[in-house]
Amino acid sequence: MIELVGLTKYYGDKLAVDHLTFTVRPGIVTGFLGPNGAGKSTTMRMMLDLDNPTSGTVRIDGKHYRQLQDPLTYIGALLEAKAVHGGRSAANHLLCLAQSNGIARSRVAEVLDMVGLSTVAKKRSKGFSLGMAQRLGIAAALLGDPQVLLFDEPVNGLDPEGIHWIRNLMKNLAAQGRTVFVSSHLMSEMALTADHLVVIGQGRLMADTSMKDFIHQNSRSYVRMRSPEQQRLLDVLHTAGINAVAVGNGSLEIDGVPADRLGELAAEHRLALHELSPQQASLEEAFMQLTAESVEYHAHDGDPVPAQAGLSPHTRTPAEPQSAGAAPGEPQPTGWGADWQRKRS
Ligand SMILES: Nc1ncnc2c1ncn2[C@@H]1O[C@H](COP(=O)(O)OP(=O)(O)OP(=O)(O)O)[C@@H](O)[C@H]1O
Ligand SMILES: [Mg+2]
Repeated sequence: MIELVGLTKYYGDKLAVDHLTFTVRPGIVTGFLGPNGAGKSTTMRMMLDLDNPTSGTVRIDGKHYRQLQDPLTYIGALLEAKAVHGGRSAANHLLCLAQSNGIARSRVAEVLDMVGLSTVAKKRSKGFSLGMAQRLGIAAALLGDPQVLLFDEPVNGLDPEGIHWIRNLMKNLAAQGRTVFVSSHLMSEMALTADHLVVIGQGRLMADTSMKDFIHQNSRSYVRMRSPEQQRLLDVLHTAGINAVAVGNGSLEIDGVPADRLGELAAEHRLALHELSPQQASLEEAFMQLTAESVEYHAHDGDPVPAQAGLSPHTRTPAEPQSAGAAPGEPQPTGWGADWQRKRS
């Protein structure tokens, strides 16, 4: 469990994290969302004692990070994948971590196997691609077999198989009763992975709720109906006191009435329907709705923004929109092994 109470961080005048109070619970995957610059990485760094809070506290299973003996056996983290000594081999990098944290040598080969890097164990990590570096970072996080795991944008640079693998890895870790806290801008992935969400904007807590409630509370759900006899359908709905909005392309949108009731009503009046579909917004839509006001770094469509527009050269581009929502036929967790190398050889 990770507990934050009033956690606050200023960098000079810049308030990066603003009185965050929330608890990350074991047994579930908790997603950590927020626009660029919202304070996610800063919060995670403070959890790991890599940054000092200006005020407030963060506790890992009731203890401050500094009170943890052999911290990697309590909390594992992937923050910056490329933050490794490039001259060391993957195995040596992990061995150094193991030795300084009282972890058995044998664990190095185990975690390399878990992340699918066994065949490049002796290669220097400076030659690793981004995806391979991510895998090495994940191996380091798993090394101490910790109960608490933090992943800051772990799917960054991973190929589709790697993304699928890490999704299942996180779900399995949570199913084993561990605390899993993960940030990502890939909403479609988050929708498939996280059970609970913590959302921040400009350092402030905006939501701390289940995935289902988050989407429900921050988006509109309605039923779409299409009939070859649209006018008669409109009359039937009107007589039943139901408000329907014609949205072009022959569709009607109805808020606040279950699809079952609408279908029965159409059947009673022998009305043919070509569509009767409940529409639930995606996580991406709900997220954009909630955080629209707190987005600091906006990109502009079309030509590059001229200098006189007053935007800093550091203005960043938000992540590419992804279609969200639970994909049909989501694959079942298949275990830990990724065996990335074997599949490609
Ligand atoms: N070491 C630092 N020195 C000064 N300012 C910093 C430092 N680290 C972060 N910041 C500022 O703190 C704010 C929060 O940054 P942070 O990296 O935590 O955001 P984030 O939510 O992780 O963003 P992203 O989604 O882009 O990774 C930003 O305004 C950033 O510029
Ligand atoms: Mg970040």
